[in-house]
Amino acid sequence: MKTIKVGLIGTGYIGMVHLEMLRRLGGVEVAAVADTNADLAKVAAEKFGISRVYESADELIADPVIDVVHNCAPNNVHFDINAKAIRAGKEVLSEKPLALDSRESAELLALAEKHKTLTAINFCYRYYPVVQEAAARAQRGDLGDVRAFVGHFLQDWLFFETDYSWRLDPKVAGKANVVADLGSHWCDLVQFITGQKIVEVMAELHTCLPKRRKPKAGSLSFGAGEAGESEEVDIKLDDYASLFLKLENGARGNFTTCQAAAGRKVDIELQVFGSKESYAWSHVHPNALWIGHREKANEIFYESSLQQAEGTRKYAALPTGHPMGYHDAVFNLFRDYYEAVAAKRAGKPYRATFPDFRTGHEMMCVIDAAVESNKSGRWVKVGK
Ligand SMILES: NC(=O)c1ccc[n+]([C@@H]2O[C@H](COP(=O)([O-])OP(=O)(O)OC[C@H]3O[C@@H](n4cnc5c(N)ncnc54)[C@H](O)[C@@H]3O)[C@@H](O)[C@H]2O)c1
Repeated sequence: MKTIKVGLIGTGYIGMVHLEMLRRLGGVEVAAVADTNADLAKVAAEKFGISRVYESADELIADPVIDVVHNCAPNNVHFDINAKAIRAGKEVLSEKPLALDSRESAELLALAEKHKTLTAINFCYRYYPVVQEAAARAQRGDLGDVRAFVGHFLQDWLFFETDYSWRLDPKVAGKANVVADLGSHWCDLVQFITGQKIVEVMAELHTCLPKRRKPKAGSLSFGAGEAGESEEVDIKLDDYASLFLKLENGARGNFTTCQAAAGRKVDIELQVFGSKESYAWSHVHPNALWIGHREKANEIFYESSLQQAEGTRKYAALPTGHPMGYHDAVFNLFRDYYEAVAAKRAGKPYRATFPDFRTGHEMMCVIDAAVESNKSGRWVKVGK
């Protein structure tokens, strides 16, 4: 079988995670990387033994050797890179959020459908084995009708005034920061586990730190507040948000997110309450699913390659008791995606079970609704 050739754009934080996990896949080779920061691209290429190094996304997309483009650049260039890669006949795996707003994401979805592109978006948290287990249980009816859901996604890497990121600059991040960055992941988990779409949103977005020190030399994601020269800048985007949400079956939920919550690193929690039982998942203990009952003892289900719902066992690849982690979740998503890419290339049937540009567009519509609701102070229906 011919090796699938990948070109990766953006060798910053998440680009390096992609490169690590692509290395674990059989039949896939990273043939090129591109980054506007030539030094970063060279470091990545040397580390992973990649021969072609480009200083622009356009050069990589124009390379006829490349079959699949991974877009790991910041949000403001997602639309341009994804659209160009689709038009060039590549398959595309993009980082989230899919674009700057739902107008752009709708255009990308239409373009991908027109070109029959196999797309994916890296909503990786749904690929923890017990998150898959929760979704499989809900799908086979164990949960019953979802009635309510609550949770949060908290971090502290923007706690200090000296912490700065392009995520706080609307020109690079878009109309929202934390509700797009973390909220999109959490809302994807809700839709994935419940099988229900989010249809209405009431939101408050807030900026805890309205002034920050921006390093003059620029900064990469998740770096500690740097000691070098900096300038004071006004921050307009949210580092805190609270959302009330409605699902299509009328279930109600609420969600809070913040990147200035001292001590909380990647604290994701989601509880889903159904008419038969409840599920709770926490990223602080990501290998366990709490299953709640009214009339018998509650359960803690540990990820298991033997005991999970059959279709989800492959995601818990190690013998029970050896925990899977964030890298494995990303790998699980990539493996599903590349199985489909390989099948498509071989002219065989495949099922796109992974999140794709439709999912990405749905999340952009939720983010847009949250931004609009914050302005109007009213419930806003999620667009399509
Ligand atoms: N799925 C996840 O869990 C997850 C986690 C982190 C980041 N992300 C997403 O990944 C994207 C990148 O985030 P990050 O944290 O890695 O950022 P980062 O700042 O660490 O890295 C971005 C890289 O892209 C490069 N770049 C910028 N513009 C470019 C262009 N036009 N062409 C080529 N390269 C360009 C930068 O030089 C930098 O090296 C964002 O959209 C973010 O939301 C997703």
